[in-house]
Amino acid sequence: MQIPARRRGPDRSAALAQYRRRARYYDQELALFEPIREQAIARLRLAPGATVLDVGCGTGLSFQLLHDRLGDSGRIVGIEQCPEMMAKACARVHQAHWHNVDLVCAPAATATIDTRADAALFHFTHDILREDAAIENVLTHLKPGARVVATGLQWAPPWMWPANGFVMAAALYSVTALESLARPWDKLERRLRYVEFDTALLGGIYILSGSYSPTETGH
Ligand SMILES: C[S@@+](CC[C@H](N)C(=O)[O-])C[C@H]1O[C@@H](n2cnc3c(N)ncnc32)[C@H](O)[C@@H]1O
Repeated sequence: MQIPARRRGPDRSAALAQYRRRARYYDQELALFEPIREQAIARLRLAPGATVLDVGCGTGLSFQLLHDRLGDSGRIVGIEQCPEMMAKACARVHQAHWHNVDLVCAPAATATIDTRADAALFHFTHDILREDAAIENVLTHLKPGARVVATGLQWAPPWMWPANGFVMAAALYSVTALESLARPWDKLERRLRYVEFDTALLGGIYILSGSYSPTETGH
């Protein structure tokens, strides 16, 4: 499929505008996909007391499941560039009285991360995974061997046309880097070891998991 040049590569300001519009209804829109979140978070294999980076955390829909595993002695660092999405994440944290969730409202590429984490979650964060600087900033704040899990849209095999119809519609609505849907995970995958893939929605959604290895430079 020919993608117009203006849609090549992630466009941070377009993504910001997209999620400013969506913030109000985002949680309802995602409801159908919650089982995938559970599968993704299970693959992080979090232990009580661990620290996790929730990259592109949106409204904080993953926080409860992460907190259930980390407990009060663990820590969640949510990174999100959209103030409207972040405001909802912040409200969620206050409502739950969590004192171990820190929120950084900044692009993933430039966010100040004050820790070396045990794990990183990229749940439906296609644009972030297409930005080398964002991946670099997150990975350099992980401990060697940290678990990394990413999920998102990808092209299903060509004969799975109903799945691909969904992927196209969902991608037009939620990502700006449309050209990379064949291998949306490839930049991250190069930096990991022991990589495993699962799929959902007839192959139209991937769940990638692996361990960060600082020696796998990928460059
Ligand atoms: C589809 S939402 C996923 C939100 C959340 N991970 C979830 O599971 O519900 C993608 C999120 O990534 C954020 N985002 C997109 N590009 C970003 C960037 N460069 N840096 C930080 N956040 C970004 C968007 O604002 C949006 O909240």
